Amino acid sequence: MLELKDVIKVDDWKKEKHVPVISIDRDIVKKGEYFGLEVSVGKSIEHPNTTAHHIRWISVYFLPDKEKFPYHIADATFNAHGESVEGADTSTVYSNHNVKLEFKTEKPGTVLAASYCNIHGLWQNSEKIQVL
Ligand code: FE2
Repeated sequence: MLELKDVIKVDDWKKEKHVPVISIDRDIVKKGEYFGLEVSVGKSIEHPNTTAHHIRWISVYFLPDKEKFPYHIADATFNAHGESVEGADTSTVYSNHNVKLEFKTEKPGTVLAASYCNIHGLWQNSEKIQVL
């Protein structure tokens, strides 16, 4: 049986433009205190954002240490990629493929992010967070 894990790609975000990059706005996350998180695609090598080729969405999850199931934190869907009634790449309206959010937890764990390119498929990344 083919599984999602067989088709979702992993790579070094510094070399591969599709990998979602997870950035946390502080070195130490405090228990029960909201902190900021940014997930972006193309941080090192810019990804195209055109009607024909773009990042469609990013999903963010959190898996606390020693737990089996991740929590779904947020979804961001990017719906404007230059298209209009005049045709592809004519509107000048584009949604950028990054998302900023806040969440809180009392447990250390791992933030996981997935992104989807309409041409090059599914990509993932993760970032461990310490909670004090
Ligand atoms: Fe792509």
